[in-house]
Amino acid sequence: MNETLACIMNRRSTRAFLPEQVKETELQAILQAGLHAPSAHNEQPWHFTVIQDQLLLAELNAGAKEVGKNANDALLRKMCSNEQLHIFYHAPTVIVVSGEEKAIMPKTDCAAAVENMLIAAESLGIGTCWIGLAMLAFQGEKAADYCRQLQIPDGYAPYYAVSLGYKKIAAVSAPPRREDTVNFLR
Ligand SMILES: Cc1cc2nc3c(=O)[nH]c(=O)nc-3n(C[C@H](O)[C@H](O)[C@H](O)COP(=O)(O)O)c2cc1C
Repeated sequence: MNETLACIMNRRSTRAFLPEQVKETELQAILQAGLHAPSAHNEQPWHFTVIQDQLLLAELNAGAKEVGKNANDALLRKMCSNEQLHIFYHAPTVIVVSGEEKAIMPKTDCAAAVENMLIAAESLGIGTCWIGLAMLAFQGEKAADYCRQLQIPDGYAPYYAVSLGYKKIAAVSAPPRREDTVNFLR
């Protein structure tokens, strides 16, 4: 197996991080990997907000959980009612990926950028977790205020967030893959 394939296979979500900040050169390499993702019509309709301000992350954590506590989904309500849960797992860096709403396929393009960053981080020994829960913060009454604080450009909407940092716990093995998800027509 080559290094790229090994990196893809070895990536696992990290949910416990060391407090040490990610080196700037590594962070820049991860961002570049995201910026080099494919995009429909090469629109590159993304914007990355790199957050290393722990007070702001605490605010987003609280805002997301507040919305989640009243969600229709019972699992979401339970998770967000857990006082111990920090949705970003206290990662030293979080990247919020926003997409240009008028682009052709902004969510797909932004998801490609996220995955590139997850793989790039793994290649550098940096742990990541894709944080869908973060988007709850942008569904509540403080959504506009958070967008302003994150300096998300006009016409863009936050779609995804990624926690990043050095891993506190070594990676576990991959959950089993679902079967019968590929067929061949030859
Ligand atoms: C769109 C998306 C949203 C996710 N949101 C969360 C999240 O909010 N919190 C979390 O701990 N993991 C989240 N994950 C990570 C998944 O739980 C994880 O990828 C899955 O369990 C498979 O584990 P692996 O990443 O270690 O292979 C998310 C993953 C994706 C793709």
